[in-house]
Amino acid sequence: MAEDAADRPSAPDPSVVPEQERAALEELAVRIAVEAGRLVRDERPRAVDVHRTKSTDLDVVTLMDTRSEALVRRRLAEARPDDGVLGEEEGVTGGTSGLTWVVDPIDGTVNYLYDLPAYAVSIAVVVGDPTRPGAWSPVAGAVVAPRTGEVFSARAGGGARLRRSDPAGDHADEAPARLRVSDVRDLAGVLLATGFAYDRQVREDQARVVADLLPRVRDVRRLGAAALDLCHVAAGRVDAYYEVGTHAWDVAAGALVVAEAGGVVTGLGADDPPSETMVVAGGPAAHATVRAEVERLLRRG
Ligand code: IPD
Repeated sequence: MAEDAADRPSAPDPSVVPEQERAALEELAVRIAVEAGRLVRDERPRAVDVHRTKSTDLDVVTLMDTRSEALVRRRLAEARPDDGVLGEEEGVTGGTSGLTWVVDPIDGTVNYLYDLPAYAVSIAVVVGDPTRPGAWSPVAGAVVAPRTGEVFSARAGGGARLRRSDPAGDHADEAPARLRVSDVRDLAGVLLATGFAYDRQVREDQARVVADLLPRVRDVRRLGAAALDLCHVAAGRVDAYYEVGTHAWDVAAGALVVAEAGGVVTGLGADDPPSETMVVAGGPAAHATVRAEVERLLRRG
């Protein structure tokens, strides 16, 4: 439910990091995410094994999630030894600079397991504490989908871009195209992306909400990678996205890409920050409509 404003921490201003440094951080995020993306794509075993499970039997980790995060951490330690890191697989490593890298080494792990191409490496750098919703702000980030070669990136105040990496995946070599969200207003015209939790019980509520929305929107998409869902909102490929149960590493980079493409990203309440409780993203009009509908449906219980 919408969070109590009095308990909400204030998000730090990303412009405490000078523009030139933000641009350099964006390029570093792109470079490392492209390298990690190439690793997970090129060294994917023919049959991917589930290495372990986490929150539930459905929440899987492959050996390549672990290897990808290790590579990202190595590159960050070389380039930015004073920064912290919050990684999906290894948790938090503290830093002294006030900046923390938030890393999803493979977003869309179940797609990766099944060799579906919709997976990505997501890397953001944030100011503040990424373990507390509302207490952090993204400064720069990149989401790289190695099977399509798409490289989404953004920096605070500097816009959002899409390039393609070269076939070897060494670097992003295409001139970047600026991203812009769609301007769909009516719910009936919204192509809506969503995702479902790894917890089977939570899915019962999610099924109820999506069943109510499905006949009233243009259609629903469930891609299986939250970072890519957000980038697709930024590119106007879907009009809005919502999901319960995502973590900072799923959304930190993608949320910045949406915001810098002119979109809005919140939690369940109009002023709530994105959190595990809810992430809603879209162009300003589609966001407002979808957020209000999802809040109404969840409050109805
Ligand atoms: C998951 C994916 C999925 C979403 C889940 C996420 P992971 O991330 O983004 O689409 O529905 O909420 O946890 O586990 O593949 O990194």
